[in-house]
Amino acid sequence: MSTNTITSSPAVRSFRSPTPRSPRVTMLLRPTTVSSTTAASVPILTKLQKDCATPVPVLRNIADNMAADMRAGLAADGGSDLKMILSFVDSLPTGNERGLFYALDLGGTNFRVLRTQLGGRDERVIDTEVEQVSIPQDLMSGTSEELFDFIASALAKFVKKEGGKFVLPTGRSRETGFTFSFPVKQTSIDSGILIKWTKGFSVSGTPGKDIVACLNEAMGRQGLDMRVSALVNDTVATLAGARYWDDEVMVAVILGTGTNACYVESVEAIPKLQGHKSTSGKTIINTEWGAFSKGLPLTEYDRAMDAESINPGEQLFEKTISGMYLGEIVRRVLVRMAETGSLFGKHVPEKLQTPFALGTPNISSMQQDTSKDLEAVGSILYEATGVDSNLDARKMVVEVCDTIAKRGGRLAGAGIVGILQKMEEDSKGVVFGKRMVVAMDGGLYEHYPQYKRYLKNAVAELLGPELSSHVVIEHSKDGSGIGAALLAATNSMYEH
Ligand code: BGC
Repeated sequence: MSTNTITSSPAVRSFRSPTPRSPRVTMLLRPTTVSSTTAASVPILTKLQKDCATPVPVLRNIADNMAADMRAGLAADGGSDLKMILSFVDSLPTGNERGLFYALDLGGTNFRVLRTQLGGRDERVIDTEVEQVSIPQDLMSGTSEELFDFIASALAKFVKKEGGKFVLPTGRSRETGFTFSFPVKQTSIDSGILIKWTKGFSVSGTPGKDIVACLNEAMGRQGLDMRVSALVNDTVATLAGARYWDDEVMVAVILGTGTNACYVESVEAIPKLQGHKSTSGKTIINTEWGAFSKGLPLTEYDRAMDAESINPGEQLFEKTISGMYLGEIVRRVLVRMAETGSLFGKHVPEKLQTPFALGTPNISSMQQDTSKDLEAVGSILYEATGVDSNLDARKMVVEVCDTIAKRGGRLAGAGIVGILQKMEEDSKGVVFGKRMVVAMDGGLYEHYPQYKRYLKNAVAELLGPELSSHVVIEHSKDGSGIGAALLAATNSMYEH
């Protein structure tokens, strides 16, 4: 088990790539640069680029479909691909929160625990400590009990180290927010049933169960006295964390291993909402947009990857735009180029044929290589996939990476515009035309500069210069960890 403690750290999500160098300008493979190495791969690239194309009409269609699916999902459960889950978070942090609160964050290959001492409006965040533990691969497909025992034990060890500026008033139980980044049918602010696993998790015995109960049982086995006062999706926690510093945050988007978005909705715009009272008249909706599928420009590589995945036909938007999959799509294209175009010579190494051998951090790093002979591209390719490449082959590889990152970033941008569009239509002119912040988190967004640029360009192209000047797309520095702790404070059983 590897752990590291970061004091007062910003959120760390599971997708990482080495510190990027300055973004490189994409090299176009002009006919003059076509060599015998790449000649047979050029038609494969051309077809890929055509199939992945995202001109404005395609993006507009995606944004419209996203807005329509949001409405249908708000009208009735099962009304569309988008689950539009009620978060039971009706009030966001105000800045007045005080006391010691914990947060657990389970959502990718890493699990994080955090504690924070909140000092109210004047002192804000007095101190924060974070520990990150990587989840052993076998636990991601083991039993529910094994996974939750692992989490509770890491938490118990972390609690034992509490001291310094962290103070729990006598007679109180510790309270935690639980960020659980999978589709959950929330039944109250502190309970919810797991609908299904995503992102490669296939733990048995959890779907259909209340995951707070699973955690409580495991904490009991560890003898840990801790109350889960808020169960939240990572998007919701990110929105809460960002809102603590900025009142105009209305949307939060995660682009990491997986992807999702949430936003602030008026209760009267939710026909399926029955018997739920909100004093603010607003509530946060977790869209689960990873399941969106209408109008996506998909390729044969996407379809093959989906068919071989553990959840075929599901999470298609996620499989097209998120960190878990971009590297794998590129690898599949490279296999085709190697097999039918001999891009890397006669031999196709077994490593290249291994699913997920090429990660999204790899393709991001390759796109940051500004050297003349693309040395870093060559060594990443060799280390990850075992191929030997010459300069022409490397240029071809970078083109493939760029094509897949461009489609992903632009589609994510169109998704954001779909949400803004829906909010604008309902508020009749109140949303557009004033400052509105979209809080972003996740390693893909943070560490892939080209992807981020493509996303922002797509938003600007769709909204036009005037409207897009009011939309601030901002990396949420405190992220979902602190957001979950803040929501634990907002929903504390004690007065604060
Ligand atoms: C999950 C979401 C989560 C997103 C980002 C998706 O796979 O379904 O609940 O918010 O990943 O972590």
